[in-house]
Amino acid sequence: MNNKLSFQSIQNYLQQHVDERPREMQIMEDYASKRKFPIIGPVAGSYCYQIARMIRATNVFELGSGYGYSTAWFARAVKENGGGTVHHVVWDTDLSNKAKIHLERLGYKDIVKYHVGEAIDTLENNRGPYDLIFNDIEKDSYPLSFQVIEQCIKLGGVLIVDNMFLNGRIINDEVQDASVEGVREMLKLIHNSHKWISSIVPIRDGLLVAYRICS
Ligand SMILES: C[S@@+](CC[C@H](N)C(=O)[O-])C[C@H]1O[C@@H](n2cnc3c(N)ncnc32)[C@H](O)[C@@H]1O
Repeated sequence: MNNKLSFQSIQNYLQQHVDERPREMQIMEDYASKRKFPIIGPVAGSYCYQIARMIRATNVFELGSGYGYSTAWFARAVKENGGGTVHHVVWDTDLSNKAKIHLERLGYKDIVKYHVGEAIDTLENNRGPYDLIFNDIEKDSYPLSFQVIEQCIKLGGVLIVDNMFLNGRIINDEVQDASVEGVREMLKLIHNSHKWISSIVPIRDGLLVAYRICS
């Protein structure tokens, strides 16, 4: 590969190849870029949607849903898969209300179930099992959340976790803050478990995609 091809230019190229989104999703994207709110963005969102369609997911749980951008991609997949539930979980009431407005406008009123609270506790109280779990909470909580997720995902289900790169900090051995340590610890847990086949996909800030192969 041409070594002058930067990571950012590849991301820009990927973005050019994502299908058009409904106007409401573009509004959500514009809001994120103006307010610097960390949504997964269209390339990762579209990939999550594709995975959810491929495994015919009808029961999805999200940890850390913000104002519902990633939720919109999963809800679209679940609706097209014939209907089901996407659990939207965030600890901030305003974000939950904002998500409800966007997601209802997108036509997902009957698909999305809203929870305001800490995401790992919410999963412990709503154990599924799920076809797909998406994790985007605070990174220092990744190891703890992984242990709960392992109990709540179906055989043949998929776990997707955002921010495997942490803006490149993860590959610098000298960085040892709580987020970096959280991601490193979770990766150790998944690699040491015989229950998963996993890969890190270099889209945006890095997505872990893990397939549950045994109980
Ligand atoms: C990175 S943003 C999520 C964006 C969303 N997944 C998207 O791509 O559109 C994470 C959100 O989850 C919230 N959050 C972080 N840790 C949480 C936790 N443990 N429980 C509940 N919400 C959490 C944050 O406050 C923030 O609103």
